Amino acid sequence: MRKIAFLTALLAAMVAQPVGATLNASKPDNEMNRFISNLMKQMTLEEKIGQLCQMPDGYITGPDNTQVSLAPLISEGKIGSLLGVCGVAETRKFQDAAMKSQLKIPLLFGMDVIHGYTTGFPLPLAEAASFDLDAIEMSARCAAREAAAAGLHWTFAPMVDISWDARWGRVMEGAGEDPYYGAKVAAARVKGFQGENLADTATILSCIKHFGGYGAPMAGKDYNSVDMSLSHFANFYMPPYKAGAEAGAATFMSAFSDLNNVPCTANSFLLRDLLKNQWGFEGFVVSDWGSVGELMNHRYASDSRDAALKAISAGLDMEMATQCYADNLAELVKEGKVPMKIVDDAVRRILEQKYRLGLFEDPYRYCNEEREREVIGSQKSRDEARYVAERSIVLLKNDHNILPLSPDVKKVALVGALSKSKRDMCGSWTCADVDQTVTLYDALINRGLTVDYSDGYDMEQNRISNLSQTLASARESDVVIVAMGERASYTGEMASRGDIAISDEQQRLVAELVKTGKPVVVLLMCGRPVIFNQVKEEAPAILCTWWLGSEAGPAITNVLWGEYNPSGKLPMSFPAHNGQIPLNYQYKSTGRPTANGGWSTRYRDITTEPAYPFGYGLSYTTFDYSDPKVEASTKPGEYATVSVEVTNTGKRKGEEVVQLYVRDEVASITRPIKELKGFEKIRLEPGETRIVTFPITDEQLGFYDNDMKYRVEKGDFTFMVGSDSKNLKSTSFTLK
Ligand code: BGC
Repeated sequence: MRKIAFLTALLAAMVAQPVGATLNASKPDNEMNRFISNLMKQMTLEEKIGQLCQMPDGYITGPDNTQVSLAPLISEGKIGSLLGVCGVAETRKFQDAAMKSQLKIPLLFGMDVIHGYTTGFPLPLAEAASFDLDAIEMSARCAAREAAAAGLHWTFAPMVDISWDARWGRVMEGAGEDPYYGAKVAAARVKGFQGENLADTATILSCIKHFGGYGAPMAGKDYNSVDMSLSHFANFYMPPYKAGAEAGAATFMSAFSDLNNVPCTANSFLLRDLLKNQWGFEGFVVSDWGSVGELMNHRYASDSRDAALKAISAGLDMEMATQCYADNLAELVKEGKVPMKIVDDAVRRILEQKYRLGLFEDPYRYCNEEREREVIGSQKSRDEARYVAERSIVLLKNDHNILPLSPDVKKVALVGALSKSKRDMCGSWTCADVDQTVTLYDALINRGLTVDYSDGYDMEQNRISNLSQTLASARESDVVIVAMGERASYTGEMASRGDIAISDEQQRLVAELVKTGKPVVVLLMCGRPVIFNQVKEEAPAILCTWWLGSEAGPAITNVLWGEYNPSGKLPMSFPAHNGQIPLNYQYKSTGRPTANGGWSTRYRDITTEPAYPFGYGLSYTTFDYSDPKVEASTKPGEYATVSVEVTNTGKRKGEEVVQLYVRDEVASITRPIKELKGFEKIRLEPGETRIVTFPITDEQLGFYDNDMKYRVEKGDFTFMVGSDSKNLKSTSFTLK
């Protein structure tokens, strides 16, 4: 029956195609252009506007919850895309409605597949800690495979917003504070989601968001205004967006916020000049949830008609959730306020992506129940999730080599409700099947250990609970493992916090446990950098485990017992005090450079040093770095190479992220004291030495000037190589 329905719908879709059009998604662009031109000739203005409208179905990620009856509108060709509809059965239902429309243009199904689909992967910030671009790409590929099997065509990811502000709740969704690294991660994620060919039914469209500068809201409050010089934007925030466009991202999302007094959703500098004209972006731009309507809240548009006019004129192609386009665009075009060519350009961009996905060939090609059953939650996905989760963990402290734990450990005192919470393990903004999550508690039991569990601390009431019982269980154990941190819901959208310190009570509990004299391992579970100075001082071993997804438990226990030697590095500086925020390692010298005292850029009451610097992370082995060597190069486009010998001086094999930082000594604008400009993750056997060589090209030496022009200036540079942004050996170079 289903098959007959499918064939009928397919036939109907074919009949609606212009004569002679080719329907093959992998055909060259000129065939696509011909196909779309023919199709557009048949479209009424209303049908064109329909393609620019995206509506949610029972999915709410914003305040405007207008629920309209979707199927009739879809069948009238008035909706081009849905968000939040997933699963083959559901997407098929709505695609059926689209196939009843005059031109049978398939719907595009989009959703926030942020870190894995049903199989939950680590938070994007956690994955960024892996500094392993292959692993990050694999994670996106797995998410795409599962999402596509569930009928989805498009994810609103990756979020590539750079942030120096750990108060901002959305840091969990990005790659941290560094633009160079953020650019590499953005490209890896786009590649993972989109693969080589969008017509492959294991891939989906990606969406670079939130363009631009959304990660720099004033005072860390989500949605707040963003104001910065254009060269600051270009040097510190723009690189990941640009890299995403260059990697071929099919779509971009505008930010809720404004940038330099113009809301990003109606910002023609960002959307038209930079993205579409300068970078040659050929995909389409979607608004954020309701952000066209919110132009009125910004007091940038007087009414919904004005909002539609300003957004479409600026280059915003598809409106999400609000209906300013649906209600006003036809009239605006008829009155000559919006040129038809602007609407046509937006429609064409959207239809092209539908074509590339192969939807005109078969609108149901992502609707395959058998594939859905096989792919989603498969063992392959779970193995990949565990692989990435292990690599996302960062070892922050390991006094007396408490870790890895010995195989003789049999009895564990496990403290902290977070260790047992399937929901929290998945992290915020997750699509994961919570029930299928293996928590730390589950994983310890699965290893055959005797686990004496206590909550230790009441997260809701913010107080220690049953202390004497918790301490008694600790005293009787071989090792105490404490899960400490924030609930998953403390980060994400609308989750900015004015205080990111772990409560004194939680920290006091750890201190009490340490006093028992038993080995105590602290697992820091969080979605952002947090502050925990007392624990940092007093606990002998600390692992930052973030939120790691469906395979969190096994990944953590594999690291605890040394089956995987931790190799993660922090992608954001961890502040020592709230007052240091925004905090970044690539600050400027200033006229009174940062120092411990005197007339310097500093605080009188707190240190300027972070608790843990960007790029920091230990291993169960140790690595020794030689002095770096710089050599002039004769290769075209390469000025020099910097090389360093790295030796594994410990007794275990391990991985190290070798990091290159560059300082431009004197430039025509003020430049940071150092910037990451290269990294390589290497794996060394005990005693093994590897030479790591970094090419020095325009990418390492250049910057955007105050006119947003990229320049490489002659003069002196310092190259620094080491294991984190503080622990570096340097050499110098003159570009003549
Ligand atoms: C978020 C976006 C998201 C959208 C759709 C918004 O609230 O800012 O990142 O893609 O909702 O769910």
